[in-house]
Amino acid sequence: MLAPILLLCLSASTLVQASQSYLINHTFIGNDFFAWDWYTSDDPTHGRVDYVDRPTAKAMNLSVASETTFLMRADHLNLVHPADRGRKSVRISSPSTYTDSVLVLDLWHMPTGCATWPAWWTVSKKGPWPNGGEIDIIEGVNNNSNNLASLHTTTNCNMTQTRAQNGQTVSTQCDASFNYNQGCGVSFSQPNSYGPGFNSDGGGWYAMHRGTCGISVWFWSRDNSTVPIEVSQALPTVNPDPSLWGSPDAFFPATTCDYMSHFDPHNIVFDLTFCGDWAGSPSAYGASGCPSTCEDYVNNNPTMFNEAYWEIKSLGVYTPDGR
Ligand SMILES: *[C@@H]1O[C@H](CO)[C@@H](O)[C@H](O)[C@H]1NC(C)=O
Ligand SMILES: *[C@@H]1O[C@H](CO)[C@@H](O)[C@H](O)[C@H]1NC(C)=O
Ligand SMILES: *[C@@H]1O[C@H](CO)[C@@H](O)[C@H](O)[C@H]1NC(C)=O
Ligand SMILES: *[C@@H]1O[C@H](CO)[C@@H](O)[C@H](O)[C@H]1NC(C)=O
Ligand SMILES: *[C@@H]1O[C@H](CO)[C@@H](O)[C@H](O)[C@H]1NC(C)=O
Repeated sequence: MLAPILLLCLSASTLVQASQSYLINHTFIGNDFFAWDWYTSDDPTHGRVDYVDRPTAKAMNLSVASETTFLMRADHLNLVHPADRGRKSVRISSPSTYTDSVLVLDLWHMPTGCATWPAWWTVSKKGPWPNGGEIDIIEGVNNNSNNLASLHTTTNCNMTQTRAQNGQTVSTQCDASFNYNQGCGVSFSQPNSYGPGFNSDGGGWYAMHRGTCGISVWFWSRDNSTVPIEVSQALPTVNPDPSLWGSPDAFFPATTCDYMSHFDPHNIVFDLTFCGDWAGSPSAYGASGCPSTCEDYVNNNPTMFNEAYWEIKSLGVYTPDGR
């Protein structure tokens, strides 16, 4: 039997959580991602996308593994006809679910460009959404330059404006029934945390810690010397303590949201959609400076989706010692 672990969850503005190490549970590199599930239903966020199955993704070279990388991309060769479901793309989800965990993603490249809406996130299978919760770790649209991390939950989960984090709070209601599913979001302060700036720096590392005291997200660009060695070297043990890793870019403390009742086991998801509820909205597409209408752009400009790809070096999933 395990001795109970005493966790101190102090207030949102001070120390984040008690120190705890996590051991590597699984590392996904290259071909390992072909064990994930390819999602083929309509995009729930109403994107102009046609999510293809694994054999189609392989045959069309939309999902490619090498010894050292895994690449997922949009079709950048073909026009989309008005009657088609959308531009061909990929959405995959992990075979296992995780609760208390640390995810470390070493990423070379993320999808960018007008009309794109990529995300790396975790979500419950429970349904109907948002039962069991959603954690968005990397997300943005069009040619944004700053990452947005957010939570989407059922009722009674909110965040204070000021927390122990480097990013800026943009919304405080995690409850998806507020403001058209906006969720509680934090915009990252580093302009190379998303999009073209991220890619031109050779990418970097994202880490998400989900624990009893809350959820934290960190980002380090490829050339940032403050990245912890255990993250950059993918060591078998990590300790996501802010006194060792620095304060997180986004912090969602459990003080104003009961995590046990709002978050259950989650699958890990990568996707890439186009237009839809966020990227295609007048306030996003219209304000981006991108040409034409979002759907017209997706349909008629395949070569503009050249940069619309994920290229992953590795994904490490860590779970608590001895569990
Ligand atoms: C498939 O994509 C990979 C990665 O971009 C590339 O190296 C390869 O040449 C492509 N193969 C074909 C047949 O297009
Ligand atoms: C690894 O994670 C899986 C899925 O959550 C879990 O069932 C398993 O017990 C974990 N293994 C270890 C050694 O922690
Ligand atoms: C935040 O959530 C708590 C319940 O956890 C609730 O009592 C409170 O009214 C909420 N505050 C706002 C501003 O919604
Ligand atoms: C390196 O990362 C730290 C922690 O996120 C950040 O405060 C700092 O601005 C970054 N430095 C550079 C040069 O990007
Ligand atoms: C986004 O792309 C459009 C079209 O290329 C351009 O006009 C606009 O300036 C870009 N916006 C940013 C923030 O880079």
